[in-house]
Amino acid sequence: MKVLDARFVTSAVYARGIPDDRIPHIALVGRSNVGKSSLINALAGRRGLARTSAAPGKTRLANLYRLEVEGGAGGPGRWAVSFADLPGYGYARGGRESVAELRTIAESYLEGHEGALRGVLHLVDARHPGLEADRDAADWLQSLGLERATVATKIDKLSRHERNKNLRELERQLGTAALPISAASGEGLEDLWTLIARLSR
Ligand code: GTP
Ligand code: MG
Repeated sequence: MKVLDARFVTSAVYARGIPDDRIPHIALVGRSNVGKSSLINALAGRRGLARTSAAPGKTRLANLYRLEVEGGAGGPGRWAVSFADLPGYGYARGGRESVAELRTIAESYLEGHEGALRGVLHLVDARHPGLEADRDAADWLQSLGLERATVATKIDKLSRHERNKNLRELERQLGTAALPISAASGEGLEDLWTLIARLSR
């Protein structure tokens, strides 16, 4: 599997403004600062493609990135996928209110791209299982009836013991096993690409 090209396409406040590029879309959803933009950069192998920041709330818009890929799961051949980096929830105000805010933007995107949207990656911080905002978001995603995968970010920050404990707790809280990844060390990215290929190709 090789990323041949990765580019920023557009950003929109209300994602209805995002063009239909007629290729499969994967949306990334998660708390502010969880590592959505970093994960897009890591998957693309391009530092600086998506803006990241230690200050939460960096991505206030829905941003779209298009990747051209060669090979990988599903066999040889060239394919394309768009990642939609949706605004983070749950930082400034926490809890239910901020998930409602995410919905406003995310739902306009989801409505406008139903045909293209193959799945949603729900990113949760591996260090903090069981946050109310994450449980609310998981319930909401569940209610949309979309393909959904839980991704546990920043796994590099945990010891072996903590990671096992937290992954078990995440599964218990969110009702689905979480794929552990690290944008920093690259751990889990190959498995995630396999999942993305399965959803998109
Ligand atoms: P918003 O745009 O605010 O919603 O945040 P985001 O989810 O896009 O997070 P972003 O990718 O900007 O990352 C937030 C911070 O976490 C940055 O300081 C990143 O360097 C750091 N970070 C992201 N992923 C990882 C990871 O896998 N490991 C470690 N150690 N740090 C990470
Ligand atoms: Mg971001």
